[in-house]
Amino acid sequence: MDTVSTADELRRVVRDWHRQENRVAFVPTMGNLHAGHLQLVRHARAIADRVVVSIFVNPTQFGPNEDYASYPRTPEEDAQALMEADTDLLFLPAVEEIYPPDLSPAPYVAVPEIDGILCGEFRPGHFSGVATVVAKLFNLVQPDVAIFGEKDYQQLVVIRRMTRALCLPVEIEGVATVREASGLAMSSRNRYLSEAEQNTAATLYRVLGEVREAVEGGTSDYAALEAGAMAQLEQAGFRPEYVSIRRAADLAEPQPGDTRLRVLAAARLGAARLIDNIGISTG
Ligand code: PAJ
Repeated sequence: MDTVSTADELRRVVRDWHRQENRVAFVPTMGNLHAGHLQLVRHARAIADRVVVSIFVNPTQFGPNEDYASYPRTPEEDAQALMEADTDLLFLPAVEEIYPPDLSPAPYVAVPEIDGILCGEFRPGHFSGVATVVAKLFNLVQPDVAIFGEKDYQQLVVIRRMTRALCLPVEIEGVATVREASGLAMSSRNRYLSEAEQNTAATLYRVLGEVREAVEGGTSDYAALEAGAMAQLEQAGFRPEYVSIRRAADLAEPQPGDTRLRVLAAARLGAARLIDNIGISTG
């Protein structure tokens, strides 16, 4: 595995691969890699000739009171894990490489409306930061295909939308959420949980599973199900932000006849903000 940190080095390597007609897959990450990230790398390996992974803790997607400074950074362990997963190239840019300091205020990418709902309501500017950095990374890496986790389902929908709207020549693939044995979705932020909170945290997935069962069993009062799930989370010790049943394709409010749905939730527990979601199929 090679590691590069500048756009020039990155472009040189990828240009050669494209000349040899290699299919290039790209997995963007913020590092502190766990089995969820590595599942995306494995998927990339299976569908392409070359695999590029980036590690970049993107400042523009963190709010002023969020954990940008304290976000876990573990570059040595990450490089080792990526090597073992047979990654071809690790891109580790400095902030100035992605955000040239002389370009301030800088152009950015907005993805209207969807960036303001669900998590976007609680994290203003977050999805615009994500869309902006992913557009930049796509232009730098020039992948044929990019892989994202369903763990961050709204992010996946935002990126599909941004990619199509900006005519970027990149296929987007989603990979199912990797979970702990307890059901808790793996996340770099789980390390903010105490041992007792880790046990409580698995309740989030269980509650979402109950919503799915109710909807698939024919319950159609979604507002009542959402309110019930919020109350259950509160009772378990969470500070829930939302539980919402949406249309899977675009996260709009479900309309009669929609059969592919998604239930999504965000809840604070101790020092962590946890998100999770699962698919619901009614037809
Ligand atoms: P990060 O949180 O590091 O996640 C990188 C990728 O791993 C994302 O596509 C995310 O959905 C996926 N992922 C995380 N946990 C997962 C799990 N348990 N199972 C499956 N996939 C999982 O998401 C970001 O970074 C950033 O917003 C980024 C897209 C890199 C832009 O900065």
